[in-house]
Amino acid sequence: MQTIFSGIQPSGVPTIGNYIGAMKQFVDLQNDFDCYFCVVDEHAITVPQKRLELRQQIRGLAALYLAVGLDPAKVTLFIQSEVPAHTEGAWLVQCNTYIGELERMTQFKDKSAKNEKQGVSAALLTYPPLMVADIVLYHAHLVPVGEDQRQHLELTRDFVERFNNRYGENGPILTLPEAKFVKEGARVMSLAEPTQKMSKSDKNVKGFISMLDEPAVIRKKIKSAVTDSSGVIEYDPENKPGVSNLLSIYAACTGESIASLVARYEGKGYGEFKTDLGEAVVGLLEPIQEKYHAWMASEELDTILDTGAEKARAVSNKTLNQMKNAMGLGRKKRR
Ligand code: TYM
Repeated sequence: MQTIFSGIQPSGVPTIGNYIGAMKQFVDLQNDFDCYFCVVDEHAITVPQKRLELRQQIRGLAALYLAVGLDPAKVTLFIQSEVPAHTEGAWLVQCNTYIGELERMTQFKDKSAKNEKQGVSAALLTYPPLMVADIVLYHAHLVPVGEDQRQHLELTRDFVERFNNRYGENGPILTLPEAKFVKEGARVMSLAEPTQKMSKSDKNVKGFISMLDEPAVIRKKIKSAVTDSSGVIEYDPENKPGVSNLLSIYAACTGESIASLVARYEGKGYGEFKTDLGEAVVGLLEPIQEKYHAWMASEELDTILDTGAEKARAVSNKTLNQMKNAMGLGRKKRR
């Protein structure tokens, strides 16, 4: 059975962008792969976080993973900082990664521009190697992600090829992973600025729908989503980014194709379209929210995370030892 790894940062409550681009894929893939899903809290601290909020969001994200339908009997669910091989592995990755490669990462450029006033942490630059470590430690074949992670996955592939060439005299040591994107919704855009990606850390709360937004808030945010003055519902991301984004959210939430939605709303106005979309999103999120609250109140959540971390530690340590052996670290070969 092939292996899947993916992670989400607990840097805010996940948005429907995270759900459509990533989490929904996780649920769809869990029956056919050996899956590892991680709350990547060490990634979240590359920019300043409030300690108590972060703690809440870490456990909250784990509860959401379960609430969307991941089955703990099938997948390994864990918190990154409870598995030390990730940061240790990241060092080995950094030693085989070039500064030039990291400076080219668009997320680094964007995030460092945003955080200029507070100072840009060194970790913002070396964050992709931590992500590379996350993936290679589990010998993942597939990594389901949104479009914004494409460049990081390319970096991962370059790293694996380099590492295997440098150290794999007796054959490849690490597995070459591949990114997996959804057809519809791999890049959900902001409701307020439809040319920008929807982001859970957006300062403008009107730009995103959080998975824990109250139904009334969801309806209101969709009502006030930026569109255009033509009043025609058609899919044209270049010229009509707002409506096109709403159409892809609608399609992703209901499974109805964009073509069918466009046909169904022909001659109808944005008002009716937005009202229906609001109901579709509420219909999707309300049951998830109920399950989320139940998981948050249950001790079973912590048992699941303890079990997950234990399994993740065993698997990742083995790979870490393979990497250390390959690089000649320590006095003798590790098993
Ligand atoms: P993060 O936390 O920013 O986002 C989590 C996942 O959601 C996807 N995503 C989106 N998809 C569609 N539309 C959007 N607007 C949108 N915004 C986010 C992301 O592509 C991602 O799949 N570096 C990663 C976390 C990470 C990771 C990993 C992922 C760390 N290690 C190893 C995969 C494998 C990140 O910051 O994702």
